[in-house]
Amino acid sequence: MSRVFFIAGTDTDVGKTTIAAGLLHAARHAGLSTAAVKPVASGCESTPQGLRNGDALALLAECSLPLDYATVNPFAFAPAIAPHIAAREAGVALTAEALAAAVQPVLARQADFTLVEGAGGWRVPLSGRESLSALPVRLGLPVILVVGVRLGCISHALLSAEAIARDGLALAGWVANIVDPATSRLEENLATLDELLPAPCLGRVPRLAQASAQQVAVHLRLAPLALSGAR
Ligand SMILES: Nc1ncnc2c1ncn2[C@@H]1O[C@H](COP(=O)(O)OP(=O)(O)OP(=O)(O)O)[C@@H](O)[C@H]1O
Ligand SMILES: [Mg+2]
Repeated sequence: MSRVFFIAGTDTDVGKTTIAAGLLHAARHAGLSTAAVKPVASGCESTPQGLRNGDALALLAECSLPLDYATVNPFAFAPAIAPHIAAREAGVALTAEALAAAVQPVLARQADFTLVEGAGGWRVPLSGRESLSALPVRLGLPVILVVGVRLGCISHALLSAEAIARDGLALAGWVANIVDPATSRLEENLATLDELLPAPCLGRVPRLAQASAQQVAVHLRLAPLALSGAR
């Protein structure tokens, strides 16, 4: 059975792509087919083939199904700025409807495990009218929340979980990505997140010297997602 999850984060730069790549790697290792999509990416490099974004390339590297770049990253903008501003500057109308249509080719491949990576935090705007959260709402996707563990993350995590619930979506799981290993009372903070977040923890990922998908996957478990076929 194909399963699709939306990867959200407590903020930008908290490890959504790093954890998504690790989850995809773990799924591949468990014998599942994988696919991913980064519907909107700002912060792209100009190449002879067109704009290329590091997140989309990292996700693409963990897709077992052959997908081309434009399918994995349908909306690409060069400046590394808020997506709604990048879109406005490029004269592109970003809507949840357009994004939902743009991710369909990936969803249609029906990989066993598909991840849709958002951008920034839960309420990042798409335009003056909509936020990116309207995409998982429109698609009815369960959410995996990446918590960038550092001082202040508990409130960000709980606010994100509240907003996800208020938007009517299921929180399928969360990952503690320990971006700041010097966080005071790290264990107590992790225990508090475990206690207060209404979903299973899919793993605690330490600050790694090499945050490769393979290294990250070691710290993750897919079992709580109940993917069929996963070992
Ligand atoms: N556990 C980790 N150990 C070491 N480095 C990490 C870890 N998690 C993330 N990083 C590094 O932190 C940076 C931000 O991570 P990442 O790009 O995955 O965040 P993001 O939430 O996807 O960001 P964006 O909002 O731009 O999509 C990257 O350079 C990544 O390699
Ligand atoms: Mg990312």
